[in-house]
Amino acid sequence: MTNAKYNAGARTLHWLIAILIIANIAGGLLHEPLEKVVSLMPAHKAIGMTILVLSLVRLGWRLTWTAPAYPATMTPLEVLAAKLVHVVLYLFMLAMPVTGWIMASAGKYPLSWFGLFDMPKLPVAKDSVLAGIGHEMHEVGGYLLIALVLGHVLAALRHHFLVRDDILRRML
Ligand code: HEM
Ligand code: HEM
Repeated sequence: MTNAKYNAGARTLHWLIAILIIANIAGGLLHEPLEKVVSLMPAHKAIGMTILVLSLVRLGWRLTWTAPAYPATMTPLEVLAAKLVHVVLYLFMLAMPVTGWIMASAGKYPLSWFGLFDMPKLPVAKDSVLAGIGHEMHEVGGYLLIALVLGHVLAALRHHFLVRDDILRRML
């Protein structure tokens, strides 16, 4: 057992970004089935760009501190698996917004941040190879991210309810 917690900045950014990502996974999956009822895409894009900025802040902040040590009860393989999943989650926190940004830059709509101001578009031509790659990677990436987040959440719940260590508490 260890009493060390993640610092307040790390915890705040973790949960803020987690909520926004879960909202964007839901929005991405529901925008088509709900398109007759509500247009989810403008909010999806604005939330996604917010995730990009917050993730860059989070990664910058991450370089300034060391995570609390893992309890000795965890095997080296478990520690390695946890760290690997975290690195890949960080990659997806950047790759999903960037591929979405590439795809949306090729579209005809402006990229508005909740109607308050327009965000810049990348120089991506409509129907270009880059726009197509962005679209494909965003779609496949969305499903991979769902699997990753599920694994991550199940691991956290396993630690809390089955192994009964402090892993979840130190992120709360
Ligand atoms: C972490 C951030 C993001 C996540 C987790 C996410 C997730 C998703 C998911 C799961 C889909 C549905 C995939 C499909 O079935 O086609 C989707 C679609 C889409 N996303 Fe994102 N997204 C994010 C950021 C963005 C950003 C920043 C933009 C644009 C600025 C964007 C633009 C789009 C567009 C235009 C679609 C619709 C694609 C289509 O229906 O053809 N996304 N997103
Ligand atoms: C979309 C959602 C999420 C993403 C992208 C995400 C991402 C991350 C990342 C990158 C880390 C590593 C932190 C670091 O050391 O720098 C982390 C840690 C952690 N996350 Fe998440 N997370 C998400 C949702 C959740 C949820 C829903 C839970 C709880 C059920 C959770 C529980 C934890 C815990 C307990 C840790 C600390 C793990 C450890 O010390 O090894 N996360 N998360």
